[in-house]
Amino acid sequence: MGVNVVISVVTSGKGGAGKSTVTAGLGCALARRGRRVLLVDGDAGLRSLDVMLGIAGTAVYDIADILAGSCQPAGAIYPSPICPDVFVLPAPVDLEKLATPEDMARLCRGFSRYYDEVIVDCPAGIGRGFETAVAGADRAFVVTTPDMVCARDAQIIARLLRKREIPARLIINRLRPDPILRGKMPDIDELIDTAALQLIGVLPEDEEVAVANAYGKPLPVESNAGTCFANIAGRYLGEDILLADLRRMQA
Ligand SMILES: Nc1ncnc2c1ncn2[C@@H]1O[C@H](COP(=O)(O)OP(=O)(O)O)[C@@H](O)[C@H]1O
Ligand SMILES: [Mg+2]
Repeated sequence: MGVNVVISVVTSGKGGAGKSTVTAGLGCALARRGRRVLLVDGDAGLRSLDVMLGIAGTAVYDIADILAGSCQPAGAIYPSPICPDVFVLPAPVDLEKLATPEDMARLCRGFSRYYDEVIVDCPAGIGRGFETAVAGADRAFVVTTPDMVCARDAQIIARLLRKREIPARLIINRLRPDPILRGKMPDIDELIDTAALQLIGVLPEDEEVAVANAYGKPLPVESNAGTCFANIAGRYLGEDILLADLRRMQA
């Protein structure tokens, strides 16, 4: 823990690509590797991390309360009951209370003293919410689904991140090996070329993810997606881990 903590942002052009899923899954995978992780929900108005990490029923305060001075900064941070060492700072319920980019950068820097990883979950699109979520980030994960429209949006996001000198890596989510192996869907190389980003990992379409998200339950470590999250966490920490064989990723 300390001043050199890297602040990451998880982003994508399109909604529903899996930003919040990746934020939650990567956060838990990093915590299992011994990191103390703060997840910041930057999606004001449409918060999801509170449900995914099992704190929706208990969280009282959020980013807006910290900024309004109605609670101490640490008072709006909740430990996740489903994953030890993962902590969540909820987004304001009211979109009008979206933090400014300066506020977000200051908050993330301040919190980075107490955690090993700070990961900000970005809202969809490239508007004010995006500007706020990326404001404090040192690096980014860009999430795409395996279709060209989403991959092209990832390229647009990648360009915006490059302008801000934020290094970014690609995560391909909801991959279904079957249609790719039959040549019916763009393969991983085509998606990487379109997004124009270096790949850090893929995540399969996995019912276990949907169930875990919906009920704020832990994603089983041995599930397909759980293994892929562990691999992404390992690569993020600098390990050389080969990409899983598509054939072995079948549900
Ligand atoms: N790999 C996956 N397998 C199955 N369902 C997924 C997967 N990734 C995301 N989902 C589901 O897709 C929906 C959108 O995901 P979410 O992470 O909320 O996207 P975003 O934050 O980009 O809007 C959620 O209902 C989530 O459970
Ligand atoms: Mg989301």
